[in-house]
Amino acid sequence: MTGKICIIIGTRPEIIKMSPVVRVCEQRGLDWFMIHTGQHYSYNMDRAFFEQLKLPDARYNLDVGSGSGGHGEQTGRMLAGIEEVLIKEEPGAVLVEGDTNTVLAGALAASKLGIKVGHVEAGLRSYDRRMPEEINRVVADHISDYLFAPTVRSRDILLGEGVSDEKVFVTGNTVVDAVYQNRGIANDGGETLESICGAGLDLEPNRYLLATAHRQENVDDAVRFAGILKGLELISDEFSLPVIYPTHPRSRKMMEEFSLDAVGVTFIEPLDYLSFLKLEADARLVLTDSGGVQEETCILNVPCVTLRDNTERPETAMVGANVLVGVDPGKILEGARVMLDRARDWENPFGDGRAGERIVSITIG
Ligand code: UD1
Ligand code: UDP
Repeated sequence: MTGKICIIIGTRPEIIKMSPVVRVCEQRGLDWFMIHTGQHYSYNMDRAFFEQLKLPDARYNLDVGSGSGGHGEQTGRMLAGIEEVLIKEEPGAVLVEGDTNTVLAGALAASKLGIKVGHVEAGLRSYDRRMPEEINRVVADHISDYLFAPTVRSRDILLGEGVSDEKVFVTGNTVVDAVYQNRGIANDGGETLESICGAGLDLEPNRYLLATAHRQENVDDAVRFAGILKGLELISDEFSLPVIYPTHPRSRKMMEEFSLDAVGVTFIEPLDYLSFLKLEADARLVLTDSGGVQEETCILNVPCVTLRDNTERPETAMVGANVLVGVDPGKILEGARVMLDRARDWENPFGDGRAGERIVSITIG
C-alpha cells in the first residue's frame, strides 16, 4: 500500500479496540488520520476513552449521532460523510474494526472509491441475520482487501465463504493488546471498587457480580429484557451477591420505557475503560450480551455467562470461559451455578497482545 492510512471509528468498542492500532501508527511516525462518525457521542461513551487512552483527536468528526430514523438513515449519513472525506484526503487504505454501522459505512465508502479496506476482527459469525451486526460484518468482510482474523477459526470461516487465502491474516484480536496495555494501570491507578461504584455498596473483590446488556435484540424487547433482569435477581438472591450493572444509554432508555427494575441490582452510569477493566477483573462472575466483554473476561480468567442464544465468539465457550444461556431466568441461574464452580485455568485464545503491530505492518506492506 502507498499513501496514508485512514482509521475510521464511531462507537465505544471501536475506540478501545482501535487504540492499539493508533498507538502503533503514532510510534512508527506513519502518515495517518482518523474519521470519527459520531455514532457514539455522550461523554462517557466517547470522549472519556480518548482522554483516558490518550488518543489523538479525529481529524474529522461527522457528528452523525443516533438520529430519529433507523439503521438506514444513520448508515446513509455516515456513508455520505465518509465518502466526502476520502475523496478529499485520498488515503491508500482505510481500516475499520468490528461490526457496527460505522464499519459498514466505512468499508462500503472506501471500496466503492477503489481504496483498499482492512477489516480488523474479520471472520466472526453468529449466523443470526436478525442481528444488525451480523449483516454489517458479512458485508464488510466480503468487500475488504485485508481481513484481519483474530483466530484460526475465524480465518477458516472466511476461507469457507470463498474469500481468497491471500487476503486473510491471523493477527490475534486487538482487544488483547488493549487489555494487556491497560490492566496494570487499572490495577495500580488508585481507583477502588468504592470510588468506581460509589460508597455504600461495600463491594469486595470476588464478592460481587458484574452485568452488562445492551444488544438491540435483548433490550428493545420488553419480555427478553425483563427475563435478563429476573435472572440477575435470582442469582443475586441465591448467592447473596450484589450485582453491578453499568448501563448503556440504549438500555437506560428502554428500562424507562418498559418501567423495568431489579432487586439486588445496582444500575450505574457507563464506566471509563480503566474502571470497567478493574470491575471485570475483580468480579466473581460476569453476565453480559457484549462481544468485547465476552472476550475480555476470557482474557482476564473471569467466568462469563452470555445472555444470548448464539455467539460469534465461540472460542470463549470452547476454552471453558463462557456459557450461552439466552434470556430465560431459570437458564441464567443455571448458567451462573455452572460457571461459579468452574476452575479459572483456561488459555486465552485471542492472541499475544501484538495484533496492532501485525495489522499495521501488513497494511503498509
Ligand atoms: C452500537 C452497535 C453495536 C455495539 C454498540 C456498542 C450498530 C448497529 N450497533 O449499538 O453493535 O455493540 O454500539 O456499544 O452499529 N446513545 C446515547 N449516547 C451515545 C450513543 C447512543 O445516548 O453516545 C443512545 C441513543 O438513545 C441511541 C441508542 O443509545 O438511540 C443506540 O445507539 P446506537 O449507536 O444506534 O446503537 P448501540 O445500541 O449503541
Ligand atoms: N466498557 C467500558 N465501560 C462500560 C462497559 C463496557 O469501558 O461501562 C468496555 C468494555 O471493557 C469493552 C467494550 O466497552 O472493551 C465493550 O463495548 P460494548 O459492550 O458497548 O460493545 P460490544 O463489544 O458488544 O460491541
